[in-house]
Amino acid sequence: MSWTDSLLTGIDEIDKQHQVLFDVLARLELAVSSEDKWSAVHFAIVELTNFMNIHFAVEEALLRLHGYPDLDAHIAAHRAFSADLAKIKQHSIRQDVSDEMMVLVKTWLVEHIGVVDKAYVSHLRTAAVLKSGGS
Ligand SMILES: [Fe+2]
Ligand SMILES: [Fe+2]
Repeated sequence: MSWTDSLLTGIDEIDKQHQVLFDVLARLELAVSSEDKWSAVHFAIVELTNFMNIHFAVEEALLRLHGYPDLDAHIAAHRAFSADLAKIKQHSIRQDVSDEMMVLVKTWLVEHIGVVDKAYVSHLRTAAVLKSGGS
């Protein structure tokens, strides 16, 4: 699965970070099919978790700054994904989690970026326009 411009939000920093998430996803796919699968998958999960945490923090700060009304639900969606990923990370010590992990990550990324993140775009645009208009 690769990046498609239909996932663009039009907010530069967010779009850059979403594209990085897809780069990490591509590395995850490589890891799953690599010879040294066990350590490659672990490394990829750690990389995904780390970047995901940074991205969530940036996005949540931006939404808070602009008074996004659905902030709590958005944060809950981020937390639920982090919890699922943490569970998979734990299971990956004892069993092969490649399939369940790939399904979770792909489905979640596309659904979250394409639908849930897109839902805040018009609010941020309006908020930014009002701010620049008022200064
Ligand atoms: Fe996002
Ligand atoms: Fe989000």
